[in-house]
Formats: sequence, C-alpha cells, structure tokens
Amino acid sequence: MLNNFERVKVLSEALPFIQKFAGRTIVIKYGGSAMQNQVLKNKVIEDILFLSYIGLSPVLVHGGGPIINSWLNRLNIESKFDKGVRVTSLEAMEVVEMVLVGKVNQELVGLINKKKGKAIGLSGKDARLIMASQFFQSSGNFVGKIDSVNVDILKLLIKEGYIPVITSVATSLEGQAYNINADTVAGRIAEALSAEKLILLTDTSGIMRDINNPTTLVKLANSFQVDLLKKQKIISGGMIPKVDCCIQAIRNGVKSAHIIDGRVDHALLLEILTKEGIGSMLI
Ligand SMILES: Nc1ncnc2c1ncn2[C@@H]1O[C@H](COP(=O)(O)OP(=O)(O)OP(=O)(O)O)[C@@H](O)[C@H]1O
Ligand SMILES: [Mg+2]
Repeated sequence: MLNNFERVKVLSEALPFIQKFAGRTIVIKYGGSAMQNQVLKNKVIEDILFLSYIGLSPVLVHGGGPIINSWLNRLNIESKFDKGVRVTSLEAMEVVEMVLVGKVNQELVGLINKKKGKAIGLSGKDARLIMASQFFQSSGNFVGKIDSVNVDILKLLIKEGYIPVITSVATSLEGQAYNINADTVAGRIAEALSAEKLILLTDTSGIMRDINNPTTLVKLANSFQVDLLKKQKIISGGMIPKVDCCIQAIRNGVKSAHIIDGRVDHALLLEILTKEGIGSMLI
C-alpha cells in the first residue's frame, strides 16, 4: 500500500506526460476479448474518464467478438473466421449490427455516462462516419473495406468535450451495413484524426513469440519484423489485423501505436502516463 507521500510523488511524476499529451487525441480500441470481466471493464472506463479529465481527447472504438459469437450461437448461426476477420453472411451481419450497436456500444456509453462522462455512441452509419464497400468478390460476405471516414463529426464532438464511442459497423451509400474488424476501424480513425496514439487493448500481453509465455513479449517491432513474424505464423488470427492497422497508422502520421493487455489494472494509464509503458509498441 502506498503512503500519502508516495501517492503524491506518483501523481507529480505524471505531470510531464500530462503536459505533453494535453489536447491530443488518443484512439483506444477496446477488444471484445478484454471486455469479459465487469470489474476490469469499469477500470478501463475510469481510465478513459481520467484521461478526458486531465485534458486528453480519448476516442473509443470497440469490438465485441465473443459477445457476437455467443449470440450467433444462440441463434444457430455458424461463426467463421479468415485470417482473424469474421466471414459475415447477411444473416450474421444482422446479428453483428444488433449486438454491436444495440448492446455493446450502448453499454459502454452507459457506463461512461453513469460516471459523469460525456460519451456519445456512434456506428459507422451515424453521420456517414464510416463509409464502406464490399471487401470480397463473393456477394454473400458482408465484410467491408473502408472507403472514407467523416472526420468532421468526430472533430465537432471532440471540440465540445464529448467522448465518441464508435462501433465497427460501416455503411454503403445505399445504407447496406458492413462488418469491419474493429482494429482496422480504430487505425483508420486514428489516421483521420492524426492521433497522438493508437492503443489496442486486448486479452494478451501484446505480440508474443510464444503465446503461452508472457516473457516472450515483443516490446518493439518495425514493419519488417512484423512481416517476418507473420510469415513464421507467430502472428496469427486476431493479431493480424492489429499489427496491420498499427503499421498502416504509423505510416499515415499517427505518432505511436501500441498493443497492450486490457486485463491489466489501469493498463491505459500505465501506457500513457509512465516512461516504461507496457505491451508491444509498433514503429
Ligand atoms: N503472436 C501473438 N501474440 C499474441 N496474441 C496472438 C498472437 N498470434 C495470435 N494471437 C491471438 O490474437 C488474439 C487477440 O485478437 P482477438 O481478435 O481475439 O481479440 P480482440 O481483437 O482484442 O477482440 P475483438 O476481436 O473481439 O475486438 C489473442 O487472444 C491471441 O489468441
Ligand atoms: Mg479482434
């Protein structure tokens, strides 16, 4: 337990980071996998509020993989993945939209606002935030590729002190919903906002050489090293869209990209307000 002196010391050590990042946008992707524990979820929400109160502009993008799977299961619709991205039939798309927009998004918005935050929930359909078209040739797969992001609506909300909470359902001009991996959405939003940081909160320590051994955490990796880890199949499944969007975001002007463990208490504050940080940083 810290005594009062130590507590104040810790606080004052955060000052340079607070000064450095005040007024800057931080895009945080909160993965469905790291959303399973209610106590931890509340801590993530508190960290986001804390960041907002000390003058940073957090933008939250969320996934919901396990929750979608459980609803698809209940409805007897099969869940299929290809390179970490969900294969989405029209039937599955309907469920994805209902679960992400109606349940996960509104729950996160409710939790932030319950703690006196100013969260506003958005899907890609709101104000045409995320416009998309079909990614695959086959007509039965409603995975989308992002064509554009309406950054104006986000800037407007951020300027007025709102915390946008964005779900990864996009829309075509005709109003067809498309499913897009939430990491990819977070990356594109971070780019469009020229964010200071893109932080992906997930359910592992970061990129690991051996997924069962946290001491094999890759603390720093560039695009060349990431390509190699992908070729060696060390990076697989849901980690693929993460590293891809981090590398792309950095190429397109985001200052830094991090994959960190959302199961660690106050992972966000550790990453943003301390020198060491945690998890994997992509450069
Ligand atoms: N080299 C690796 N290091 C760490 N995790 C890896 C690696 N390769 C694959 N993974 C897998 O990636 C998973 C994280 O991606 P996943 O898509 O499951 O979670 P998420 O993106 O946080 O949640 P959601 O997709 O619901 O938003 C890990 O749980 C792990 O199984
Ligand atoms: Mg994922």
